[in-house]
Amino acid sequence: MINGELKLNHTIRWAMVGGGRGSQIGYIHRSSALRDNTFQLVAGAFDIDPLRGKEFGVGLGLDEERCYPDYKTMFKEEAKRSDGIEAVSIATPNGTHFEICKAALEAKLHVVCEKPMCFSTKEAAVLKELSEKNNRVVGITYGYAGHQLIQQARSMVANGDLGEIRVINMQFAFGSYAFPIEQENPAAKWRLDPNFAGPSFAMGDVGTHPLFLSEAICPELKIKRLMCSRQSFVKDRQLEDNAITIMEYENGAVANVWSSAMNCGSVHGQKIRIIGSKASLEWWDERPNQLTYEVEGKPVQILERGGGYLYEEAREEDRISCGHPEGLFEAWTNLYLRFAMAMDRIDSGKNIERKDFWYPDVEAGYQGVKWVEKCVESADNDSKWVEY
Ligand code: NAI
Repeated sequence: MINGELKLNHTIRWAMVGGGRGSQIGYIHRSSALRDNTFQLVAGAFDIDPLRGKEFGVGLGLDEERCYPDYKTMFKEEAKRSDGIEAVSIATPNGTHFEICKAALEAKLHVVCEKPMCFSTKEAAVLKELSEKNNRVVGITYGYAGHQLIQQARSMVANGDLGEIRVINMQFAFGSYAFPIEQENPAAKWRLDPNFAGPSFAMGDVGTHPLFLSEAICPELKIKRLMCSRQSFVKDRQLEDNAITIMEYENGAVANVWSSAMNCGSVHGQKIRIIGSKASLEWWDERPNQLTYEVEGKPVQILERGGGYLYEEAREEDRISCGHPEGLFEAWTNLYLRFAMAMDRIDSGKNIERKDFWYPDVEAGYQGVKWVEKCVESADNDSKWVEY
């Protein structure tokens, strides 16, 4: 149980690029990073508009001189200070992630980067190599992975409770883009412009979330090949607002991912169902405190977050006892705590064993980019099978 006692003996000096006033995702970054006193926000280049960014930073309580007009100035100026930043989060539109993440790693900073980490596997390989060379953490905010029942599912799969994994059924299919919302909403506008969003909308924006959940829950499964169909139902869109991907794994298991912004009436619509030879699990992000466990021939069981019957590792990050709902902010906070612990371990010269201590890292960022790239390759070639 997490109760506020300090987890690190040092607070990491932290900054943000993007996530300014009016941004969709900035506040959850700050709220999650700051909750456990592992990070301290000391600087920022919060906005594409320097003046608005400065006002915003001051409004957050920062020193005016540490509210910078852009990330390049921030990295340069902070490097001169004895109390300069040690880590940075990047919460800007997709098209800027690669250059900002690269500059941060070159400045020897630990990074938390929004998904997608970049646009191509070529770029992702550069970031992966840099993070390894400079021994810096890159955490990716696949935030749903911080829900404790995802850890429970991972433990159940590892312990054989489901038997051999055969099918994974995934979707992240919400509905608010079923009409041309981009004509009135700036965050929707850049998401549908390939210059800012990259080669995909629906798959890169939402499909990679359940994909990462499947990687976290079933780390042994490796994709062998995939095929994809993508389309935009709303006229004149350059990127897909809907896509269906089918995957085959090396061990013979199969999966599908429905990535969509067209699912009328669905508020969020992220689900993952894992079907084994003995039992199935299902998790839905709109009911994150419940995991459905269905054993062949027995009544359905609903496992509740915090329940005494869960695996111990699925209860370590509880912040309140069973029966009180936790939510997305807690899941993100759990991830930020893991990011901080990873940074601390590295800075104190310890190795990180991926098996025992996991978080969406640079490899997860790479895999997300690779998956989108392969899906686009398939979809744009008449949905042919593409080797992974
Ligand atoms: P947004 O358009 O609402 O906000 C973007 C913010 O970045 C604004 O404050 C803008 O002024 C600032 N900005 C833009 N360019 C900048 C630059 N060069 N330097 C400094 N600041 C800059 O975008 P939103 O929806 O917050 O998305 C940001 C990122 O977060 C995207 O990559 C998106 O994919 C990701 N995202 C991730 C989610 C998750 O669950 N992990 C959920 C929503 C968004």
